[in-house]
Amino acid sequence: MDKRISNRCVLGLNLSGHDSSACIVQNGAVFAISLERLNRIKHSGPITGDGFEMHHAVNYLLNLENIAIEDIDSIVINSPEQEDWLKELASKRYPTHDVALLPQPSHHIAHAYSAFFTSPFKEAVVLVADTVGSYAPNKYARECETAFLFDRRNEPKIIKRNYRTPGEISAGWLYSFITALLGFGGSQIPFSGAGKTMGLAPYGKNRDDFPDFTDYYKENKNIPAVDFKNMLDAQGLLPKPIQEKELGINFPEHVKWRVDCRLPHEPITDLHKDLAYFAQKNIEDRVLCLIKDIEDKTKIKNLCLAGGTFLNSILNKKIMDKSSFQRIYVQPAATDDGCAIGCAMWGLLEKSDNSNKKEFFGMPYLGKEYSDKVIGAFLKDLNTSFHTRFICKEISPTKEPLKKIASALADGKICGFFTGRSEFGPRALGNRSLLADPRRRDMKDRLNKVKKRESFRPFAPTILRERVLEYFDIDVDKAVYLLPFMTVVANVRGDKKDLIPAVVHVDGTSRLQAITQKENERYYQLIKEFEDITGVPMVLNTSFNCQEPIVETPFDAMKTFLENDIDYLFLDPFLIIKNNPREIELL
Ligand SMILES: [Fe+2]
Repeated sequence: MDKRISNRCVLGLNLSGHDSSACIVQNGAVFAISLERLNRIKHSGPITGDGFEMHHAVNYLLNLENIAIEDIDSIVINSPEQEDWLKELASKRYPTHDVALLPQPSHHIAHAYSAFFTSPFKEAVVLVADTVGSYAPNKYARECETAFLFDRRNEPKIIKRNYRTPGEISAGWLYSFITALLGFGGSQIPFSGAGKTMGLAPYGKNRDDFPDFTDYYKENKNIPAVDFKNMLDAQGLLPKPIQEKELGINFPEHVKWRVDCRLPHEPITDLHKDLAYFAQKNIEDRVLCLIKDIEDKTKIKNLCLAGGTFLNSILNKKIMDKSSFQRIYVQPAATDDGCAIGCAMWGLLEKSDNSNKKEFFGMPYLGKEYSDKVIGAFLKDLNTSFHTRFICKEISPTKEPLKKIASALADGKICGFFTGRSEFGPRALGNRSLLADPRRRDMKDRLNKVKKRESFRPFAPTILRERVLEYFDIDVDKAVYLLPFMTVVANVRGDKKDLIPAVVHVDGTSRLQAITQKENERYYQLIKEFEDITGVPMVLNTSFNCQEPIVETPFDAMKTFLENDIDYLFLDPFLIIKNNPREIELL
């Protein structure tokens, strides 16, 4: 890498209202953390009840590699409206350090940089789509879909850009809005449960009394807000006080809308299922039109995707099946947390020449790793940290822990698996995961109960890469940069569905992760051990959490283990078993 680039140290921050995050790039190494992992508030924005908390995320990263705040030469954000807040934060928390605040990239540029500079491509089309991005220069419309051409020699070029005005809605906005209507988001971020809408969609059906917006998408137009309003009105979903308002209002207002549709604790009806289906169909129709349009504009065959829209793994399958792009990469932290990486990369390259702008690093393990010594010390203090009796004569690493875990999984146990650096982004990909046996028919219901999730939600498998084609119908060449990150679904082969019922969704698909030994050695070895016992080269993998953000520290992992119906906890290299809720021991 160019020395002028490698010697710089840049802090990127995502301070937009949800999924706040920080990323430091220094000497070619990248560290990133979402604030929610530290303050334990899902999708946390930068300012929470007790004041400024972003400095916790920054300090966490600084401590990872003993970086001093004085080493940071630039801070980049993508929310211009947050600049005053950032200056206050910097002067309050780091008063002795005078840091450069560079001009800010737009929200979509930050997404795009995060995708291209974590991809393996030398050149690529980068498509960004989300609920809402930065304001256009006219301060009226806002970014909704942007396509760029990136290569390693030149500034990125915008080849397509759609803005949404307050009288219009985009397909991404429609998806978020229906998610809020269905009561899937929290009270703070009503659209944050988009994954639940995706999970519910296959249970729904197409309805003649819902409008068809395909023509707008084909003509590259947004949907007139009034069309969507009329649809909701016809279904009795529009509360009267809101009828007078146009649909371009801000989200906090929309929390009210759920009252007439569904509250989180209420049952799911056929109408809810059909609304989810409608949202899914619309996002697929719109994005496929966009992709077709982009394909006509370029000969480049690599596609990068970022923005919350592309956490939709069913949509990503459609893109894979129907587009002519030969290689597709979805930035695993595709929603706004990923913008911190984009900001850091943008800042790193802003002051450098254009000669060597390509740097690839392996997503998604960008967080902190805890040494054996630190975890051992944590276990030593356990009896004082938790009201639990910890039975062990001495604290020493477990012998052959992976064999023991594999055997426990095969025996129907649920195991918290904590190893290596934490993942950045919404998916647990083997380092902060809850694991179980995919062969057990009752495991989906059991785990949904443990995690207090809706019963319709599916679980995903992690499979050894070399065995993917035996179990799934997927173009592994095209999906090679999707498979490690659980960003695409695939059809489970007919003869395998009964073998792994806990990870097959109602539509016959799985949102699979497939790994090589190089990508995650510890996790790969565990699956190998499980295969030795069962003949099945995969485990069920879900995030290590129960309603909270994914565990980040050994403390979070232990707390989640003790408070929930989880049988084993692996704090690498120590394997812990629960004899009863008040008594645990080291194996
Ligand atoms: Fe975004």
